[in-house]
Amino acid sequence: MDFERYPDTPFRYLTRADVVAAAHGVDIVQAVADALLLHASGQSVLPEEAYLGWTTPEGDSARLLAMPGALTPTGARPVIGMKTINASLGNPDRGIPRSQGFTLLLDPETARPRALMEAAYISAMRTAAVSALAVRHLAVDAPGSLALIGCGPLARAHAQLLLRTVPTLRRITLYDLATDRAKDLAAHLAALPEGAGVETRLAPGPREAVADAELVIPVTTVTQGYIEPDWLRPGALVCHVSLDDLTEAAVLAADTLVVDDWSLVRDDPRRLLGRMHRAGTLLGPDGTPREGVTARPDARAVDATLGDVIAGRHPGRRHPDEVVVSNPFGMSVLDVAVADRVHAHAEATGLGSLLPL
Ligand SMILES: NC(=O)c1ccc[n+]([C@@H]2O[C@H](COP(=O)([O-])OP(=O)(O)OC[C@H]3O[C@@H](n4cnc5c(N)ncnc54)[C@H](O)[C@@H]3O)[C@@H](O)[C@H]2O)c1
Repeated sequence: MDFERYPDTPFRYLTRADVVAAAHGVDIVQAVADALLLHASGQSVLPEEAYLGWTTPEGDSARLLAMPGALTPTGARPVIGMKTINASLGNPDRGIPRSQGFTLLLDPETARPRALMEAAYISAMRTAAVSALAVRHLAVDAPGSLALIGCGPLARAHAQLLLRTVPTLRRITLYDLATDRAKDLAAHLAALPEGAGVETRLAPGPREAVADAELVIPVTTVTQGYIEPDWLRPGALVCHVSLDDLTEAAVLAADTLVVDDWSLVRDDPRRLLGRMHRAGTLLGPDGTPREGVTARPDARAVDATLGDVIAGRHPGRRHPDEVVVSNPFGMSVLDVAVADRVHAHAEATGLGSLLPL
């Protein structure tokens, strides 16, 4: 017997296919740029994410991330939501994606769910959009060469988006520990109309992949750094998407270090930059060490957020030979911002199903 009168309030459910179809009508790079600017000007709420890790019955590492976030533009309707994205490292060998989950949007007035949608597509595309914006604002002029290390869905999303947004691209070098995944991605890129005129190469190792690349994007699942500073050519931009591929020495040697949000990096004990902050080798953007930690003599500071660079409050790259690192921890407000536009397009075109709560 229910104990409360529950009026029938429908919400829109979007499958992955619905999300992909609705996303065709959305400029994801623009949605992400707008959200980064709102965040940089304090018009957002970005709570610390909740992390639950476990070992699966078959012995793989698995995790759940719960990431609430809100955009609160002055004078306009707020956008409130949460992404939960869950992953098991054994999935690719089972032939299923490593990560999947839901993004939820709430009615800002009643706090009731107004939409629930598959999360991984938007998550991959908003991450690739952050990299596309980093390339626009932090790379050398007219970059021609891209290295992707790791050839899973995130690599695919990046390659597809960068082929569209970086028309000067002439060479993509791929490396994956699983050679078949690199070959599959190469075949996929060769079949894309945007891939015409772009040479795709397979590298025998990560160092060879990175050598001479103006854009370096690791999208692996490593937990220990391997990209050393002398692997990178002068002028390289590293979009450090998988967050643990650079060595500490490479972060210390970078000329400019940009993050998406300092509080997320600071509060996270697992990834490289959070570990460096705890060890006293990484200082906050204000140049101070973590409370209770003594700065080491070789410590460096975070230089800026990507939002600050896009807003023109930080110059970003200052010289064509600089090595720039962009470390996108991953912000829920970007998922929520893109989900809101995808939902609006789905609503306008009748995509998805209306379900009762
Ligand atoms: N920063 C962000 O905002 C953000 C957002 C989404 C995903 N990610 C991260 O991106 C990464 C990739 O995601 P995915 O869904 O494509 O993962 P995936 O597991 O499907 O694919 C990763 C690929 O990397 C390869 N790989 C693993 N270790 C490697 C190594 N040492 N050298 C070369 N290749 C290696 C694997 O064989 C696999 O093909 C994950 O670490 C994920 O957490 C980051």
